[in-house]
Formats: sequence, C-alpha cells, structure tokens
Amino acid sequence: MTWSIRLAERRDAREIMVIEETRFPEPWSLGMLLDEMGNPATRRYTVAIEDAHVIGYLGVMFVIDELHVNTIGVRHADEGRGVARSLLDEAFADARARGIRRATLEVAASNTRAQRLYFRYGFKPVGVRKNYYEKTHEDALVLWNDDLTAAGVGGPTL
Ligand SMILES: CC(C)(COP(=O)(O)OP(=O)(O)OC[C@H]1O[C@@H](n2cnc3c(N)ncnc32)[C@H](O)[C@@H]1OP(=O)(O)O)[C@@H](O)C(=O)NCCC(=O)NCCS
Repeated sequence: MTWSIRLAERRDAREIMVIEETRFPEPWSLGMLLDEMGNPATRRYTVAIEDAHVIGYLGVMFVIDELHVNTIGVRHADEGRGVARSLLDEAFADARARGIRRATLEVAASNTRAQRLYFRYGFKPVGVRKNYYEKTHEDALVLWNDDLTAAGVGGPTL
C-alpha cells in the first residue's frame, strides 16, 4: 500500500469530482460536494492520496449514534488494490472511537462489486428502496451493520 488516508480539504474537491463523474451515473455536483464537506459537525470526508493525487474518497454522515455511508469512489485505474477497504477501515475506526456502533448505506441492486465489499464488513440487506435512483430507475438495497465493534468487521486488513 502506497497511499495514505487523510481528511478531505476543499482543494481536493476537483479531483474528487473527476472520480465522481466517471464512476457514478448520477454524479453529485461540485456545489453539493462542497456543501457536504463544509459541514464537519455531521459529515466526514476522507481521501486516499497517492503521488499527491486523490485516488479514492469516502463521505460519511453521523446521525445521532449511526454512521451513514453517503458516498465512496475509487479511481478506475486503482480498483481492486484495497483503496476502498482502507478508507472504510479508517472511517469505522473513527466511528468506533466516537462510540458509534451502527452503520447503514444504500447500494444499487446491480452493484455487486460494492455489495461484496460491504458484506465483508458485516453489512446485511434489510430492505429495498424501489426506483431509488432518479436517472437509472434502479432499486437500491438498504444495508445495515448493527455492530461495528464486532470481531471481523473490516475483514483481513484489520
Ligand atoms: C466499489 C468501489 C468503491 C470498490 O473500490 P476498490 O478500491 O476497488 O475496492 P477494494 O480494492 O478495497 O476491494 C474491496 C472488495 O471489493 C471487491 N472487489 C474489488 N475489486 C474487485 C473486482 N475486480 N471484481 C470483483 N470484486 C472486486 C471485493 O469484495 C474486494 O475485496 P477482496 O478483493 O479483498 O475480496 C469501486 O469499485 C468504485 O469506486 N466503484 C464505483 C463507485 C461505486 O460503485 N461506489 C459504491 C456506491 S454504494
């Protein structure tokens, strides 16, 4: 592993947007991203940096004692290297330190790659939001992890 994880800063937004726009059928706008990043009381954005460039990012939201994974993306060329896992490991460690025990997210029904990643972290499907995505009309699976402190959360990298 040659990248490092740190809190995202405004200067990272343009590189995050390049990944966002190439990886999501319904990308966020730069304005939405900056709004999110500018709200550190309830949001936490991190980036994976390699050779001074953003190769992945993660945005989470705190809702009382829950963590919501809002977005995660990895540069296409860097997929399968463990970048997403290291972003999630860092965020879940931070969440545990804050006393947060539960986490949730939505993932497109067809996104089996991301689902496999989340299942490794102990997330379980609890429901379906029909027609969740405006553009693709795809359903979203709602996943929950009810015990972020459980042994094995984070898979073999922890
Ligand atoms: C989903 C995504 C974030 C994964 O990022 P990544 O850095 O490639 O993931 P990692 O390398 O940490 O791999 C974690 C797990 O993802 C899955 N995965 C990674 N590469 C894979 C591949 N080539 N084929 C199938 N599964 C793969 C595996 O479960 C893998 O664990 P393992 O290889 O140890 O068994 C990335 O593919 C991405 O940005 N996708 C587009 C945006 C997106 O779908 N975001 C999620 C929205 S909910």
